[in-house]
Amino acid sequence: MNRSAADDAAARSDGGRPPGNRVSRRAAAFDSSGIRKAFDLAARLPDPINLSIGQPDFAMPQAARDAARAALEAGRNGYTPTQGIPALRDRLEEQVRRETGQSDRRLCVTSGSSGALVLTLMALIDPGDEVVVFEPAFVMYRPLVEFLGGRVVPIDTSPSFRIDVDRVAASIGPRCVAILLNTPANPTGAVADAATVAALARLADQRGVTLVSDELYRSYCYDAPFASPAPHSENVVVIDGFSKSHAMTGWRVGWVHGPPAIIDACTMMQQYTFVCAPQVGQWAALAALDSPMDAPLSECRRKRDALMAGLRGHYDFVPPGGAFYLYPRAPGGSGQAFAARAAAEEKLIVVPGNVFGAADTHFRIAYTVDDRTLDRGIAALVRLAASAG
Ligand SMILES: Cc1ncc(COP(=O)(O)O)c(C=O)c1O
Repeated sequence: MNRSAADDAAARSDGGRPPGNRVSRRAAAFDSSGIRKAFDLAARLPDPINLSIGQPDFAMPQAARDAARAALEAGRNGYTPTQGIPALRDRLEEQVRRETGQSDRRLCVTSGSSGALVLTLMALIDPGDEVVVFEPAFVMYRPLVEFLGGRVVPIDTSPSFRIDVDRVAASIGPRCVAILLNTPANPTGAVADAATVAALARLADQRGVTLVSDELYRSYCYDAPFASPAPHSENVVVIDGFSKSHAMTGWRVGWVHGPPAIIDACTMMQQYTFVCAPQVGQWAALAALDSPMDAPLSECRRKRDALMAGLRGHYDFVPPGGAFYLYPRAPGGSGQAFAARAAAEEKLIVVPGNVFGAADTHFRIAYTVDDRTLDRGIAALVRLAASAG
């Protein structure tokens, strides 16, 4: 449809907002994240039971804190090369070569894995292009695709949260440029098995689309070893980072690796956007690579098991094989109504499922909290299930 200049002008004028304060249609089309709303609610409640925050509750490794302090004192506070400090890049590249068996992957250190996602999608999407996304999905996926004029083709994975490769094949149309995979997954904790990720990599190659694999939670796999699609195809683009694996969410260090053409495009666009990842964070990340994380990760598994044991028989859920989330069905049917009732009756903060996709049937619990909070949360959830009728 051809829009006239007058139509455009009308669509762009914002009722009542003073000239000069107009935001783009892109910005106006989105509301702030539902997770942010849960944080704000928690901030207003006295002594809330906050199970909404998706970050580790253990400390960043001592060696990483020491390295950050040393970098700061040594005056390593300036810009770094766009792709990251060579020492960190070398270590990550070596790890990638070992794990994929591919020697010509390229790698760029980014400003968090969020930065890697932004750059990768900028490198792949033209207006009108389509991206297959498995819902429920991480909150950034849809806005990032749509900011770029792309269209999300959602595949609803509930109630099993498994990926059906035949459905993916049927969802790839002529405008599809990418499949966005996240395993272990936020918000469901689902882990895709080795056969599924291999089949997805093959399918993407056959159909000429890019499989983007967000592996931020790869160190949180409780029941089976982590399986990446990257060893199955040189074309897979992998997103990773230190936020969850080393409790470094505030330091903003991630990375992306994949075929040279795509990673070179990401690097070029990083020059014009983020510039580089924070330097002190990169030195901390380098030291973090040598820090054993087995103890905090097994603590996380213990909390998952305690939460599942506490809720079994009271809630309907798929046992999560990874990440640090549990995604039960909401008693009463609406995740939003349940989250509101949980806050009002129990000062319990959980995230309703409609934040992660079209369905409002579930809610997310993040169990990276101290034992007292987890116990209070379980007791509150059991009472809420009992009073749901
Ligand atoms: C699946 C997934 N990908 C990416 C990110 C972004 O993480 P960061 O930018 O801190 O690396 C998150 C954060 O919650 C996430 O859950």
